Amino acid sequence: MAERNKGVNMIQFSTEYAYLDQELNAYQAQVKKAHQALNKKTGLGKDFLGWLEWPNNYDEAEFSEILKLGEEIYQNANTLVVCGIGGSYLGARAVIEMIQGLYPKRDLEIIYVGNSFSAPYLLQILEYLKSRNVYLNVISKSGTTLETALAFRLLRQFIEEKYGNDAQKRIIVTTDKKRGVLKEIATKEKYRTLTIPDDIGGRFSVNTAVGLLPLAAAKIDIKEFMAGFKNGYLKYNNPNLDENLAYQYAVARRILEKTGKQVELLVTYEPALVMFAEWWKQLFGESEGKKDQGIFPASVNFSTDLHSMGQFIQDGTKLLFETIIQVDNPELDSKVPQLSDDSDNLNYLANKTLDEVNKMAALGTLKAHHEANISCLLINLKDLSPASVGELMYFFFQAIAMSVYLLKLNPFDQPGVEVYKKNMLDLLKE
Ligand code: PA5
Repeated sequence: MAERNKGVNMIQFSTEYAYLDQELNAYQAQVKKAHQALNKKTGLGKDFLGWLEWPNNYDEAEFSEILKLGEEIYQNANTLVVCGIGGSYLGARAVIEMIQGLYPKRDLEIIYVGNSFSAPYLLQILEYLKSRNVYLNVISKSGTTLETALAFRLLRQFIEEKYGNDAQKRIIVTTDKKRGVLKEIATKEKYRTLTIPDDIGGRFSVNTAVGLLPLAAAKIDIKEFMAGFKNGYLKYNNPNLDENLAYQYAVARRILEKTGKQVELLVTYEPALVMFAEWWKQLFGESEGKKDQGIFPASVNFSTDLHSMGQFIQDGTKLLFETIIQVDNPELDSKVPQLSDDSDNLNYLANKTLDEVNKMAALGTLKAHHEANISCLLINLKDLSPASVGELMYFFFQAIAMSVYLLKLNPFDQPGVEVYKKNMLDLLKE
């Protein structure tokens, strides 16, 4: 397997496909042009490029405020309700689960609402919250997203009834600096507010107050997380295709698309990365799927999904390529125990760790998929520390911005999402 920049970068990118290596260089001029358009803010969606320099120029006063609020929530509540949808919740949830796992050692539980219209989902949560000590962070840039606004209406009423005069301090609003109904409510009710920068769209906002407050409340080291984004900026905002793994990945996607691949399957081997894949799908799907173009982003979590989707991937229609995220050093690992009677016939594993078994499953699958002629891109992540996760997210920011610019589309709008909203509102107002 020809590895690029092995050992130099935290994220390595590997491919067995010689044609990818050869064709990558043909894109250098296009990549340079698109890179300039991004950095000089002259390309499509130029008003939404705030994420690019954000690791260098984020608001430090607000960052300190977020640290204090996170601590206040941790000390005073046992449940934080995060009310938001799409870019206003996926990033926080992805990072929290990725870093802390699905059963974290933490005194604060985090519940996500406002991301669905399901009545049973919301009503069950409201019932459950009766016995909990609750803080609420409602997050919406527009302040008008109906899933979030409707859930907030019910939650606000619930918190006011439960806490009376104390309700005001338990509701923290993350929204636009000036505009929107949510901002108006926050001003009227004197809720504490955090700001979503004008020039950063939802799916690029995980390292703004949108993601940072839930992360801080969950006791994730957000300074380290931001340092990861800074590392990402230094590595992946580089016009030189030979040195920039994010741009190599962006170009590889375009080359694979030309060979007829219509689906990109993000493959993870940790259940704690399932929500990360959801975040990635939103980032890639909403940024790229426009004007009858784009690669459809899908995801699987192996080896679980090898027992459901594995058959199709191996033997079915050859419409996809894989992008595999491999975590080199997981937080926890342990040797498989030896049994004196070997009653389950598993003693052949006894000198291995659980993670080594997982890695062999990954290698065996990679081999099988190569044999089936499935193109595989491999991203090695050193660990799941806040810094590594931050760097990985910036890697994907840069990669999708470049990928979409190579298609000559705007990565930062989502006109298609508005169609369902309009129909729904027309029906609701009938
Ligand atoms: O990436 C985006 O812009 C969207 O996914 C939004 O984050 C999502 O629609 C929620 O919007 P809002 O924060 O305005 O409620």
